Amino acid sequence: MIFVGALVTSTGSGLAVPDWPLSFGQVFPPMVGGVLFEHGHRLVAALVGLLTVALMVLLTQWESRLWVRWLARGAVLAVLLQGTLGGMTVLLRLPLVVSVTHACLAQAFLCLVITLAVCTPLAGRRPRPAGPSSNSHPYGYWQP
Ligand code: HEM
Repeated sequence: MIFVGALVTSTGSGLAVPDWPLSFGQVFPPMVGGVLFEHGHRLVAALVGLLTVALMVLLTQWESRLWVRWLARGAVLAVLLQGTLGGMTVLLRLPLVVSVTHACLAQAFLCLVITLAVCTPLAGRRPRPAGPSSNSHPYGYWQP
Protein backbone atom coordinates (compact mmCIF):
# COMPACT_ATOMS: atom_id res chain seq x y z
CA MET A 1 0.00 0.00 0.00
CA ILE A 2 2.84 2.36 0.83
CA PHE A 3 4.61 1.41 -2.42
CA VAL A 4 1.46 2.01 -4.48
CA GLY A 5 0.85 5.33 -2.66
CA ALA A 6 4.45 6.38 -3.33
CA LEU A 7 3.87 5.63 -7.04
CA VAL A 8 0.99 8.14 -7.01
CA THR A 9 3.20 10.85 -5.48
CA SER A 10 6.35 10.04 -7.49
CA THR A 11 4.54 10.08 -10.83
CA GLY A 12 2.67 13.28 -9.92
CA SER A 13 -0.66 11.49 -10.40
CA GLY A 14 -2.35 12.83 -7.25
CA LEU A 15 -4.78 14.94 -9.28
CA ALA A 16 -5.15 12.60 -12.27
CA VAL A 17 -8.66 11.88 -10.98
CA PRO A 18 -10.59 15.05 -10.03
CA ASP A 19 -13.37 13.52 -7.91
CA TRP A 20 -13.82 11.22 -4.93
CA PRO A 21 -15.11 8.67 -3.83
CA LEU A 22 -15.90 7.77 -7.46
CA SER A 23 -13.35 8.33 -10.25
CA PHE A 24 -14.77 10.44 -13.10
CA GLY A 25 -18.15 9.42 -11.68
CA GLN A 26 -17.33 5.73 -12.28
CA VAL A 27 -16.18 2.73 -10.27
CA PHE A 28 -13.85 1.58 -13.08
CA PRO A 29 -12.70 4.47 -15.31
CA PRO A 30 -10.33 3.82 -18.26
CA MET A 31 -6.91 3.23 -16.67
CA VAL A 32 -4.91 5.63 -18.84
CA GLY A 33 -2.00 7.86 -17.81
CA GLY A 34 -1.93 8.88 -14.15
CA VAL A 35 -5.41 7.40 -13.63
CA LEU A 36 -3.72 3.98 -13.54
CA PHE A 37 -1.72 5.03 -10.46
CA GLU A 38 -4.37 7.15 -8.70
CA HIS A 39 -7.36 4.88 -9.30
CA GLY A 40 -5.17 1.77 -8.84
CA HIS A 41 -4.17 3.19 -5.43
CA ARG A 42 -7.84 3.59 -4.51
CA LEU A 43 -8.65 0.01 -5.55
CA VAL A 44 -5.78 -1.45 -3.52
CA ALA A 45 -6.84 0.77 -0.57
CA ALA A 46 -10.40 -0.59 -0.82
CA LEU A 47 -9.02 -4.15 -0.69
CA VAL A 48 -6.79 -3.31 2.29
CA GLY A 49 -9.80 -1.71 4.04
CA LEU A 50 -11.93 -4.84 3.50
CA LEU A 51 -9.12 -7.11 4.71
CA THR A 52 -8.69 -4.95 7.83
CA VAL A 53 -12.42 -5.22 8.63
CA ALA A 54 -12.23 -9.02 8.06
CA LEU A 55 -9.23 -9.19 10.43
CA MET A 56 -11.14 -7.28 13.10
CA VAL A 57 -14.18 -9.57 12.77
CA LEU A 58 -11.99 -12.71 12.98
CA LEU A 59 -10.09 -11.40 16.00
CA THR A 60 -13.35 -10.44 17.73
CA GLN A 61 -14.38 -14.08 17.31
CA TRP A 62 -11.08 -15.84 18.00
CA GLU A 63 -8.87 -13.60 20.12
CA SER A 64 -9.05 -13.78 23.90
CA ARG A 65 -6.87 -10.76 24.70
CA LEU A 66 -8.93 -7.60 24.94
CA TRP A 67 -6.03 -5.28 24.00
CA VAL A 68 -5.46 -7.18 20.74
CA ARG A 69 -9.16 -6.87 19.86
CA TRP A 70 -8.93 -3.12 20.54
CA LEU A 71 -5.79 -2.89 18.42
CA ALA A 72 -7.72 -4.45 15.51
CA ARG A 73 -10.54 -1.92 16.03
CA GLY A 74 -7.88 0.82 16.01
CA ALA A 75 -6.58 -0.51 12.68
CA VAL A 76 -10.10 -0.28 11.18
CA LEU A 77 -10.44 3.28 12.49
CA ALA A 78 -7.02 4.16 11.03
CA VAL A 79 -7.82 2.72 7.60
CA LEU A 80 -11.16 4.59 7.49
CA LEU A 81 -9.44 7.83 8.48
CA GLN A 82 -6.73 7.17 5.89
CA GLY A 83 -9.32 6.74 3.13
CA THR A 84 -11.01 9.98 4.19
CA LEU A 85 -7.67 11.84 4.18
CA GLY A 86 -6.94 10.38 0.73
CA GLY A 87 -10.26 11.74 -0.51
CA MET A 88 -9.55 15.13 1.09
CA THR A 89 -6.17 15.39 -0.68
CA VAL A 90 -8.05 15.06 -3.98
CA LEU A 91 -11.04 17.30 -3.19
CA LEU A 92 -8.82 20.04 -1.66
CA ARG A 93 -6.25 19.68 -4.48
CA LEU A 94 -3.26 18.28 -2.57
CA PRO A 95 -2.76 20.69 0.36
CA LEU A 96 0.62 19.89 1.92
CA VAL A 97 -0.75 19.36 5.44
CA VAL A 98 -3.29 16.74 4.27
CA SER A 99 -0.77 14.96 2.02
CA VAL A 100 1.80 14.81 4.84
CA THR A 101 -0.80 13.57 7.36
CA HIS A 102 -1.91 10.92 4.82
CA ALA A 103 1.72 9.77 4.37
CA CYS A 104 2.36 9.69 8.16
CA LEU A 105 -0.87 7.82 8.98
CA ALA A 106 0.07 5.26 6.29
CA GLN A 107 3.19 4.41 8.29
CA ALA A 108 1.31 4.35 11.61
CA PHE A 109 -1.23 1.96 10.02
CA LEU A 110 1.61 -0.27 8.80
CA CYS A 111 3.03 -0.37 12.37
CA LEU A 112 -0.43 -1.30 13.72
CA VAL A 113 -0.92 -4.23 11.34
CA ILE A 114 2.67 -5.45 11.86
CA THR A 115 2.01 -5.44 15.62
CA LEU A 116 -1.19 -7.44 15.04
CA ALA A 117 0.67 -9.92 12.82
CA VAL A 118 3.48 -10.39 15.35
CA CYS A 119 1.21 -10.93 18.36
CA THR A 120 -1.37 -13.22 16.73
CA PRO A 121 0.23 -16.59 15.82
CA LEU A 122 -2.30 -18.58 13.79
CA ALA A 123 -1.66 -22.17 14.89
CA GLY A 124 -3.61 -23.77 17.72
CA ARG A 125 -6.47 -21.25 17.82
CA ARG A 126 -9.85 -22.10 19.29
CA PRO A 127 -12.97 -19.92 19.14
CA ARG A 128 -13.24 -17.60 22.13
CA PRO A 129 -15.99 -18.82 24.50
CA ALA A 130 -18.69 -16.32 25.43
CA GLY A 131 -18.37 -14.65 28.83
CA PRO A 132 -15.53 -13.05 30.78
CA SER A 133 -11.95 -14.10 29.96
CA SER A 134 -10.13 -16.48 32.30
CA ASN A 135 -7.41 -17.49 29.86
CA SER A 136 -3.86 -16.70 30.93
CA HIS A 137 -1.84 -18.12 28.04
CA PRO A 138 0.73 -15.51 26.95
CA TYR A 139 -0.37 -15.75 23.29
CA GLY A 140 -4.07 -15.82 24.11
CA TYR A 141 -4.68 -19.41 23.00
CA TRP A 142 -7.82 -21.10 24.23
CA GLN A 143 -6.83 -24.45 25.67
CA PRO A 144 -9.44 -27.10 24.81
C1 HEM B 1 -5.19 2.00 3.34
C2 HEM B 1 -5.40 3.19 2.80
C3 HEM B 1 -4.29 4.05 2.21
C4 HEM B 1 -2.94 4.04 2.45
C5 HEM B 1 -2.16 3.15 3.41
C6 HEM B 1 -2.36 5.08 1.62
C7 HEM B 1 -1.03 5.39 1.55
C8 HEM B 1 -0.48 6.37 0.77
C9 HEM B 1 0.92 6.70 0.69
C10 HEM B 1 2.02 6.01 1.49
C11 HEM B 1 1.06 7.70 -0.19
C12 HEM B 1 2.39 8.36 -0.60
C13 HEM B 1 2.62 9.58 0.24
C14 HEM B 1 3.92 10.28 -0.11
O1 HEM B 1 4.92 9.59 -0.32
O2 HEM B 1 3.94 11.51 -0.16
C15 HEM B 1 -0.24 8.04 -0.70
C16 HEM B 1 -0.50 9.03 -1.60
C17 HEM B 1 -1.75 9.39 -2.03
N1 HEM B 1 -2.93 8.79 -1.69
FE1 HEM B 1 -3.16 7.25 -0.40
N2 HEM B 1 -3.36 5.68 0.91
C18 HEM B 1 -4.55 5.08 1.23
C19 HEM B 1 -5.80 5.38 0.73
C20 HEM B 1 -6.08 6.38 -0.18
C21 HEM B 1 -7.39 6.67 -0.70
C22 HEM B 1 -8.69 5.91 -0.38
C23 HEM B 1 -7.25 7.72 -1.54
C24 HEM B 1 -8.42 8.32 -2.25
C25 HEM B 1 -8.36 9.22 -3.10
C26 HEM B 1 -5.85 8.10 -1.54
C27 HEM B 1 -5.29 9.16 -2.27
C28 HEM B 1 -3.96 9.45 -2.33
C29 HEM B 1 -3.40 10.55 -3.11
C30 HEM B 1 -4.17 11.55 -3.96
C31 HEM B 1 -2.02 10.52 -2.91
C32 HEM B 1 -0.98 11.47 -3.52
C33 HEM B 1 -0.73 12.59 -2.53
C34 HEM B 1 0.33 13.55 -3.02
O3 HEM B 1 0.95 13.32 -4.06
O4 HEM B 1 0.56 14.54 -2.31
N3 HEM B 1 -5.17 7.25 -0.71
N4 HEM B 1 -1.15 7.20 -0.10
